[in-house]
Amino acid sequence: MSNMVDEFLTLDAIAGMGFRATAETDALAQEVKDILGFGAFNIPGRLAIARSLAIAEPPPKSEGELGRTIKGETLFGVGPDLAAWISLLIEHQGAVPDSPKALQGLVSAHWARGMRMLTDEVRAADKDASQFWRRLAESALPASGGMSVAEPRVFGGDVVAAPVVLQIGEVGTDVMSNEPVVWSLNAPGGSPHSAFMGGVGSGKTRTAAFVLRSLAEQSPTTPLIAFDFKGDMSDKNNALDKAFGATVLSPLIAPIPLDVFALADSGRHTITTTALRLRDSLSNLKEARFGDLQRRRLNDALETALRNCKPCTLPHVRDALKKIYASEGVKEDGAVSSLVELCRLPLFEPKYSPAEFFSKSWIISLPANVPELVRVAVVSLLTDALERHINTLTDAATDTNGNRALRSMCVIDEAHKILGARLPGLANLIRLGRSKGAAVMLISQRPDDFAGEDDDFLAEMGLIGCFSTNANPAQVRRIFGPGSALTALKKGEALIKVRGDARAAQVVCWQ
Ligand SMILES: Nc1ncnc2c1ncn2[C@@H]1O[C@H](COP(=O)(O)OP(=O)(O)OP(=O)(O)O)[C@@H](O)[C@H]1O
Ligand SMILES: [Mg+2]
Repeated sequence: MSNMVDEFLTLDAIAGMGFRATAETDALAQEVKDILGFGAFNIPGRLAIARSLAIAEPPPKSEGELGRTIKGETLFGVGPDLAAWISLLIEHQGAVPDSPKALQGLVSAHWARGMRMLTDEVRAADKDASQFWRRLAESALPASGGMSVAEPRVFGGDVVAAPVVLQIGEVGTDVMSNEPVVWSLNAPGGSPHSAFMGGVGSGKTRTAAFVLRSLAEQSPTTPLIAFDFKGDMSDKNNALDKAFGATVLSPLIAPIPLDVFALADSGRHTITTTALRLRDSLSNLKEARFGDLQRRRLNDALETALRNCKPCTLPHVRDALKKIYASEGVKEDGAVSSLVELCRLPLFEPKYSPAEFFSKSWIISLPANVPELVRVAVVSLLTDALERHINTLTDAATDTNGNRALRSMCVIDEAHKILGARLPGLANLIRLGRSKGAAVMLISQRPDDFAGEDDDFLAEMGLIGCFSTNANPAQVRRIFGPGSALTALKKGEALIKVRGDARAAQVVCWQ
């Protein structure tokens, strides 16, 4: 058997083989070829296969009427060129094709998928060749600081349960014992939630990002949803976009592709409870919370919009609210103006269902030029949607040792910006998400930031870390144990308390 594999996989054999996609692919290739001015069909073919190889998911099997045959040596070239193409195909598939037919099928599948993408891209570029090349080059750039246009990583099935044991920081050793300090994020009986605190520039984001990158390595099927207020989560040091294959989105540039008001089902009860929840989320956004009448009208508006509009969007809610004010003959007030303000930008676009959206990784960039109301609303509505989605699922699977599968890692950097808003979705995610495989990581400046919450978030955490910061010493002792103080911490050191441990360790996280 292995002889047969070896024989057909020689470069000479492949060079002589015939490859083809479908008649539909050829028709699209004609369009691409004409617009981009290629002389022959092998060039759009190569471009298509390369485009498809840039996506992590396997391509669907190509189907339909067969297309024109191109010989291996024409399609891929010979020698090192051919070897490189075959290596890329095998690397992408993660396995060696076991017959010539399997190799031809694989090539055909990439060719057909890639050609559809190229055609879409050519059309999106208004059939302008130079614009097309610019778009293509951008789509192939390694993701970094700016907007990433990488394809989101998509997972077919449910996530896999396996132990996730994380070292706290690049150094990650106890000052006293010099032993490594680790946290078992999803071990039985623990909590997968965590909080990192510390003063400005103390290293909380870098340390949190290190921990998250280890998580991505150990649990590659766990998608990330991260809120980035400073734009540094996808820089070269933190590189969370790369680690999770995340798409970086900014509502100032493009709407978030989620049906954010999706209902779990269409029952009357579901509409009522969802409206109540959304009312609570939306009426907490401003420091001046909505009054009773405003809340009642917003509730009615939400019920009407959720019942009548599928998919329901923020402008639907705004319009329903305006109607209620008009029909009751009352003057529009702060509640209406908040909704109007939120609709100034298209924040969400109902492209993906919650199940689709939350199976991919996203970094939501909310830099300082995003209005405060929008920042809080985006975090609030997304954590709401995540929580409603997660809580429709059955408990996450566990492995034989009781380690729970992680379905979602939700990270909020600069969490002090939103902690005052009492987001009900976030609170529920922290309280109830554990058994469903949802983990929350909050990064904030000081323990006192958490004091205003109705729920004691810190008591729910499996891991709490704090770098040097000015904090109420009594709070520090309450959280980290008697005798704990932040005053002794040197640069790069943090107090680290793992749930269940009697006291905190002083840990060198970075040097
Ligand atoms: N692991 C590390 N290795 C090297 N330098 C680090 C590390 N962690 C932090 N630093 C240094 O500290 C600086 C601040 O780190 P980081 O951005 O993580 O801090 P922060 O607490 O998130 O700050 P801010 O409050 O401004 O968000 C970095 O720019 C870097 O100079
Ligand atoms: Mg930071």
